[in-house]
Amino acid sequence: MLRRGILKLVHLLALVVCVSAVGDFDWTRNEKTSFYYGTFPTGFLWGVGSSAYQTEGAWNKDGKGMSIWDVFAHKKGKISSNETGDSSCDGYYKFKDDISLMKEMKLNHYRFSISWPRILPSGLKSEHINEKGIKYYNDLIDLLLDNTITPVVTLYHWDLPQVLQEKYGGWQNESMVSYFNDFADLCFERFGNRVKHWITFNNPWSISVEGHETGEHAPGLKLRGTGAYKAAHHIIKAHAKVWHTYDMKWRSKQKGLIGISLTADWGEPVDMSNQRDIEAAERYIHFYLGWFATPLFHGDYPQVMKEYVGRKSGQQGLGASRLPVFSPQEKSYIRGTVDFLGLGHYTTRYVTEKNYPSGFGDSYFADRDLAELVDPQWPDPGSEWLYSVPWGFRRLLNFVKSQYGNPMIYVTENGVSEKMLCTDLCDDWRMQYFREYINEMLKAIKDGVNVKGYTAWSLLDSFEWDEGFSERFGLYFVDFTNKDKPRYPKASVQFYKRIISSNGFPNQREVESWKRKAVETCSSSNQLLAADPLIGHMEMVTEIVVPTVCTLCILLSAVFFMFLLRRRL
Ligand code: BGC
Repeated sequence: MLRRGILKLVHLLALVVCVSAVGDFDWTRNEKTSFYYGTFPTGFLWGVGSSAYQTEGAWNKDGKGMSIWDVFAHKKGKISSNETGDSSCDGYYKFKDDISLMKEMKLNHYRFSISWPRILPSGLKSEHINEKGIKYYNDLIDLLLDNTITPVVTLYHWDLPQVLQEKYGGWQNESMVSYFNDFADLCFERFGNRVKHWITFNNPWSISVEGHETGEHAPGLKLRGTGAYKAAHHIIKAHAKVWHTYDMKWRSKQKGLIGISLTADWGEPVDMSNQRDIEAAERYIHFYLGWFATPLFHGDYPQVMKEYVGRKSGQQGLGASRLPVFSPQEKSYIRGTVDFLGLGHYTTRYVTEKNYPSGFGDSYFADRDLAELVDPQWPDPGSEWLYSVPWGFRRLLNFVKSQYGNPMIYVTENGVSEKMLCTDLCDDWRMQYFREYINEMLKAIKDGVNVKGYTAWSLLDSFEWDEGFSERFGLYFVDFTNKDKPRYPKASVQFYKRIISSNGFPNQREVESWKRKAVETCSSSNQLLAADPLIGHMEMVTEIVVPTVCTLCILLSAVFFMFLLRRRL
């Protein structure tokens, strides 16, 4: 009786702690303070990231099976300029060179992903293990460790074995949960003696929405209003299963950590004095980050998602919500299955309420009842979706702290692209982006957010999914037109190196000199690059031919116009 009473009390207390830990995010307090000079806590980890399909190439070499991205990219019209990741940066062959680049930068960690079909060509552990694939990752991990670089390994960065898509329907099918668990278990068995940081999924929002709702990404399904929710549901279960497998079978021996990498933009209310805008912004975040984080931290989907999707499904005459439901057993199984939260972040949106009538049709986007806006003043150097809004990063980090009980966070992705025809290694805007975003992260740490490490995205320019090679996120420029795929440092390499060696931003005088010094070094790399005959040719086209043709056109039009005028007079 007494034991029961105590248990109940403990339960109640836990609930109170949990509830009071949630929801104390102050929407109205957006301090856009000036640059903060200071350093990160001792032991803060600095790294860079990549993923298998984006960089490895060797898509059909040494027994690798096909992934959904191999197939998708080979279909005409799916990728900008019909490019593919067939050879990409040839990272499969050049990983030794790449590790030298990392060593040079004095990085603490390298985040990369394992290609599931490279080690399990048919996706199934029971069918065939490709030892050559295993050897590749063994060599990569060993060399990283020899160079005192910690491997941070993502198990799923979007490249599902094609066989699993064809046979079972991929993430639409619950059977993926156990197939993925078998694959993860194999990775723990073969690499877990050396790998201590595991990320189950990279950006499940993108897998769900872009892969199964809009179809811009592999497998290219357009199952509007249902496909994304179903995929996400199975991904959450798969993550939890892998966490439990590790916990029961490997944790005591290997002493590693299992996390997930969630990517989210920040959503800021357009009008802070309007409660409906605040609620719309909160919905935006819950449909983005909360969709995955709330089940994993608290055991179920965010209340607001259940309400909105449920209500809309009812209005559409459906008998049940399009958002799947977790059973009570599933809720307790998935709750608390993150040892650390990986956070990817790039940009921000303003958000306002917008009502989508029920006749509008099923869609994840319409379910949210909101509109996204951007400030035209925000710098927009590369990808059309990526505006540089550093203060949004601090807001997001504080939101995570308030909603999920201040978990341990590793920033697993943050960076900016450039979209330029002519090559310029003096990437001023990227240095600016890193300087400001990293500074906002520092402010968040001062606010009490538990951030342990930062991963710049990405080491190399690489295959940018549906955008092909047209967007370059790399600290290193890769010349994809040259079969050797040479890498050239952009100025931001030097800049990031300075942040790492100072563990932050020591003082104004020093920090201001960094950019200048970095630009000095990049001018010589620019010359190196220009000496490359192919690049030289590209530059000639973009820097000489295009302007000359344009000027000639303008001149000819002027002459023609004068001629017309004269005839009229
Ligand atoms: C993905 C990366 C990608 C980046 C920029 C992230 O969400 O995980 O693979 O390169 O977005 O588009």
